[in-house]
Amino acid sequence: MSAKLTTNDLEPFWMPFTANRQYKKAPRLLVSAERTHYTTDDGRRVLDGTSGLWCVNAGHCRPKIVEAIRKQVGELDFAGSFQMGHPKAFECASKLVNIAPPGFDHVFFTNSGSESVETALKMALAYHRAKGNAAKVRLIGRERGYHGVNFGGTSVGGIANNRKWFGSLLSGVDHLRHTHDLVRNAFSRGEPEHGAELADDLERLVALHDASTIAAVIVEPVACSTGVLIPPKGYLKRLAAICAKHDILLIFDEVITAFGRLGTPFGADYFGVSPDIITTAKGITNGTIPMGAVFVKTKIYDAFMSGAEEAIDLFHGYTYSGHPVACAACIATLETYQEEGLLTRAAELAPYWEDAVHALKGLPHIIDIRNIGLIGAIEFDPIPGEPGKLAHTRFVEAFKRGLLVRATGDIIALSPPLIIEKKEIDQLFDILSSVLKTVN
Ligand SMILES: Cc1ncc(COP(=O)(O)O)c(C=O)c1O
Repeated sequence: MSAKLTTNDLEPFWMPFTANRQYKKAPRLLVSAERTHYTTDDGRRVLDGTSGLWCVNAGHCRPKIVEAIRKQVGELDFAGSFQMGHPKAFECASKLVNIAPPGFDHVFFTNSGSESVETALKMALAYHRAKGNAAKVRLIGRERGYHGVNFGGTSVGGIANNRKWFGSLLSGVDHLRHTHDLVRNAFSRGEPEHGAELADDLERLVALHDASTIAAVIVEPVACSTGVLIPPKGYLKRLAAICAKHDILLIFDEVITAFGRLGTPFGADYFGVSPDIITTAKGITNGTIPMGAVFVKTKIYDAFMSGAEEAIDLFHGYTYSGHPVACAACIATLETYQEEGLLTRAAELAPYWEDAVHALKGLPHIIDIRNIGLIGAIEFDPIPGEPGKLAHTRFVEAFKRGLLVRATGDIIALSPPLIIEKKEIDQLFDILSSVLKTVN
């Protein structure tokens, strides 16, 4: 166990997406983890109700993954992928395309979800240019969308706090309406009934900008970071059809929904919708080593392969694209998912999970409960003038009582490791309901 930190030790680290001064007055520190639990610096076990940050899908410190990383770093610590290669990157890419939805036969490596998004947006622009449609330069995101924190992702993102501090962002970006509709859909189980027609908002933007100027639409199949907005039945299919009609590429940002979260390998499989590009990260290495991957359809890859053979086809990439240690971690992660059936396990647990989360209905302040796959969300009626307070106080109290949840705005989001057992789901909701009943 690590020694206790002093306040001075806490000061230099400017923590991301954190109220630094508040946190450092009462820090919450995790020092080890195993399977579904963390251990805190004061020796308490905490049930991980959020898979770390939506990434530790197979649970923590899985021996096969840990061993693969140890071995790789001692054998080949680094090798680049610019005009060079190493076998693990090729093996990893082949294994990834094997579990991808049909038609996704190439993969581009990044180091995070944010980088996967930037990569996908740049690919979309370059694709249209390569096809002779250089005027297709606009990018369409969606209100309340989260696509990471780089400039492209921030621009297509739709969470006001993530945008307003950072100037005018990319030009030529517009946003679809979000799909959250408490009046018609509160307390829906799974996909809500109402709102497929919201996809037609893309026709409004096409009418405004003209399809000849629009390169791509990017959406999360389930918008998780904003507080779990589940697409209404039929919405994604309708959006895909409109994109196809206007030669607009559809990018699914599956940084959270890929690798089994919904009970299928990818969200695209769950919704039966085939986008053109899929961005991933997080669960790709079970959270162990930073890595992301962008999956593209054959038509995208082929568009870049028509120039001179000796010319670089895509002027884009990262020093650590296809890093050997990340690739080793990814291969061991995919094997673990396969061996334990984790890419589909959420489908088996989903009905039990759904009943458990909806049993919270009626507890104080709750105005909506949502679920899909092994994801749940509880939305509170915000206190006027104190946005986010209800969720934050409940998150802090749950942590004290042995449960890690994610607070985002006035919403608590849940996404436990896919290895969770039913009795642990019971424990999770026992703790959470006692918190929701007793915290003012
Ligand atoms: C849909 C989506 N895209 C992008 C990102 C950014 O990923 P990262 O934090 O790895 O850059 C996230 C992170 O939560 C995400 O949920």
